[in-house]
Amino acid sequence: MNKNLDNYNAALRWRYATKSFDPSKKIPQDVLDGLLECLRLTASSFGLQLWKFLIISNPEIRANLLAPSYSQSQVVDASHLIVFCRPKSFDPTMIETFVNQTASTRNQSVESLAPFKEYMDKATQNPSFPTEKWMDNQLYIALGNLLSACALAGVDSCPMEGFSKPKYDEVLGLENDNLTAVVACPIGYRLESDKYASLAKVRYPLEKVVSFLK
Ligand SMILES: Cc1cc2nc3c(=O)[nH]c(=O)nc-3n(C[C@H](O)[C@H](O)[C@H](O)COP(=O)(O)O)c2cc1C
Repeated sequence: MNKNLDNYNAALRWRYATKSFDPSKKIPQDVLDGLLECLRLTASSFGLQLWKFLIISNPEIRANLLAPSYSQSQVVDASHLIVFCRPKSFDPTMIETFVNQTASTRNQSVESLAPFKEYMDKATQNPSFPTEKWMDNQLYIALGNLLSACALAGVDSCPMEGFSKPKYDEVLGLENDNLTAVVACPIGYRLESDKYASLAKVRYPLEKVVSFLK
C-alpha cells in the first residue's frame, strides 16, 4: 500500500473518542495553527464555507458549558474546545459574498460568475431545499477533517453531539451573530488512565460496509 495511506490508517487506528483529557497539557501554538488551517481548507457545498469555528480556551466559558454538555468533562479538561457553528438562518447575500471572494481570488469579473451565482441561487431558493440540514452537513465534513488531522498530529479529540444546542447558543451569545452551534470537539492530550484508549476498536469488516458493483 501507499506509505502515506499506511501512516494515515495507523493514525486512524490510534485515535479514539477521548473521554479523559489531561488538563495540564496544552496544544502548542504551531500545532493548533496547523489544525486550524486544516479546518479552513475543508471542502464545502458549492465552496460556500457557511461556518464559524469557535476556538475556546477560556476556563470560565467552558465551565458554563459543562452542564449543557451533560457533564462531559472533556469540555473543560481538554486543551481547547472547538464549537462548530453555522448561520442560524441562510440569506442569499452569503452567496454574493462568496462570488465576490471567488472573483477577487481568481482575478475574474463578478459578471463572469453570474451563471454560477444563478445556479446557487436557484438551488438554495427551491422550496424543497433542506437549508438547515444542508448547512449542518457541511460542519460534519469539517469535523471529520479535524478528527483526521488531529490523529495525524498526535492530538487527541472527541467528536461531540451530546450537548444542548440552545444552551450552547445562549452561553456563547451566538444569536447576536446569527450563528448556531451544530457539533463540538474538545482537542488535547489523553490522560494515561483513560480506559477507553486501550479498548479494541469496534468496526465492521470491510465486506459488510463495502460493496463492489460490477
Ligand atoms: C457526530 C458524533 C457525535 C458524537 N458525540 C459524542 C459525545 O457527545 N460524547 C462522546 O463521548 N462521544 C461522542 N461521539 C464518539 C463516538 O461515540 C465514537 O466516535 C464511536 O463510538 C467510535 O469510537 P472511536 O471514535 O473511539 O473509534 C460522537 C461521535 C460522532 C461522530
